[in-house]
Amino acid sequence: MSKFYITTPLYYVNDKPHIGHAYTCVVADTLARYRKLKGDDVFFLTGTDEHGEKIEAEANKRNVKPQELADGMVVHFKNLWQSLSISYDDFIRTTEERHIKVVQKFFQNLVSFGDIYKGKYSGWYCVPCESFWTKTQLKDDKCPECNREVHKLEEEGYFFKLSKYGDVLLQYYNEHPDFINPSSRRSEVINFVKEGLKDLCITRSKLSWGIPVAEEPGLSIYVWFDALLNYISAAGYLDDEKRFKYLWPADVHFVGKDILKFHAVIWPSLLLAAGLSLPRKVFAHGWWMAEGRKMSKSLGNVMDTDVLVKKYGADALRYFLLREISPGLDGNFSISAMEKRFNADLANDLGNLLNRTISMVEQYFQGVVPDSNQPREMDDQVVEDAVKILQRVNELMEKLDFSLALEAIWQFINRANKYIEDAQPWRLKKENSPALNTVLWTLMESLRIVAILIFPFMPCKAAEMYSQIGMDDKIEEKRLSDLKWGLMKPGISVRKGNPLFPRIEFYNHKE
Ligand code: MSP
Repeated sequence: MSKFYITTPLYYVNDKPHIGHAYTCVVADTLARYRKLKGDDVFFLTGTDEHGEKIEAEANKRNVKPQELADGMVVHFKNLWQSLSISYDDFIRTTEERHIKVVQKFFQNLVSFGDIYKGKYSGWYCVPCESFWTKTQLKDDKCPECNREVHKLEEEGYFFKLSKYGDVLLQYYNEHPDFINPSSRRSEVINFVKEGLKDLCITRSKLSWGIPVAEEPGLSIYVWFDALLNYISAAGYLDDEKRFKYLWPADVHFVGKDILKFHAVIWPSLLLAAGLSLPRKVFAHGWWMAEGRKMSKSLGNVMDTDVLVKKYGADALRYFLLREISPGLDGNFSISAMEKRFNADLANDLGNLLNRTISMVEQYFQGVVPDSNQPREMDDQVVEDAVKILQRVNELMEKLDFSLALEAIWQFINRANKYIEDAQPWRLKKENSPALNTVLWTLMESLRIVAILIFPFMPCKAAEMYSQIGMDDKIEEKRLSDLKWGLMKPGISVRKGNPLFPRIEFYNHKE
């Protein structure tokens, strides 16, 4: 069994989570569940980023202490993750002692290695992005990343020798073409590094809400330096070396494209400075947009996740998020697109296949799954297609192409629907043909395979489906070997339940 360590970014606690945040967690959770299906020992980490000027400003606005703001927001994140079945193994908060002590020690170590030095910073700062910019980097005097106001900073502080790592990074990207995904983003990062890296200011003097630099109470550690280290502090760095050795390096860091540079440039440089190995992959996904703009709380164009979960169900929302966006590209969040997918893919294609099959087993075999006998060519073709689809899904999941993996599974679902039309079980029943047994067994076996395959994407609905087809074992314990064709046991009884995805009426909305 090999370990597989997956992370999401740590979410800022200045506000409640929205669809954009949910997306990163859903993607990471789907991969975590898929790797478990493959037999890996998965460690899936998420959490919250609780320090910095942005949080402090929001707390002041609300007239509460930053820690109180964080404590309250964490509840919203945890609740949403629970309702979306996010199966994280650890939730780290940057205000936890286990993290703070690693950040302080890491800082001191880099000072003693000569990679952190004292200097004077003069430049601009964007609070929403928690980023430093030079005058020339600004666009129309605004933040080049989010187009918002920046403010001037001039202060004594500590710098990290980022400039030292440009060539090493370029060599690393070159030798590890899979490190930055997707490849379009990879070239962006390479060009950025080729332009030359500047040393990074890693302390703030006027900020009080941050991890203090040990023995320099006037200074606190820059929030990104602090937050990035969560990936090692949660894995036991400087605390449980055995565990850390087992878990590190991370196998995939999932991040949004806005924070790729922090993960593909600054983070590896910090690790190199500390003599640690680099993560295997950083995957940058696109943004969820509304009316052509990134969804964000500050723009006021976000969808309320609680409302969406309540109306469509958590798994339907997961399906939409995973199916609608291609890896690395932006997606447009629209209710009408979601409702179309719900009715077409979930209620019709999958829901009907399950319903029709179970109803026929009830009607023709008193609910008991028949045995297959002398399969004909048309029956054998379903088996061949099932084998092909498994291979394809595996290839696509290796590439982290969740959307095409779902499309491939749906091809098989529709293949099975077509098989019903072609085989015409109602005619076989009339003719008293023994082929009826084979057709229904083949359909039940197809459903068993589909349930296991969709489990990583829609865990609750997959479990419901698995139970409806009469299976008694735990779907979450299934492994790739359970996807072998032929394991559906004749003689078990189906349990017809409520429709998995009752059709929804379209919202009355303008879009
Ligand atoms: N705190 C930092 C990350 C530190 S990781 C060591 C941060 N937090 S965030 O809350 O602003 O964003 C967290 C994640 O949500 C990022 O990956 C970001 O890209 C993602 N999203 C926020 N809005 C988004 C969309 N509208 N669409 C998709 N994802 C976006 O950055």
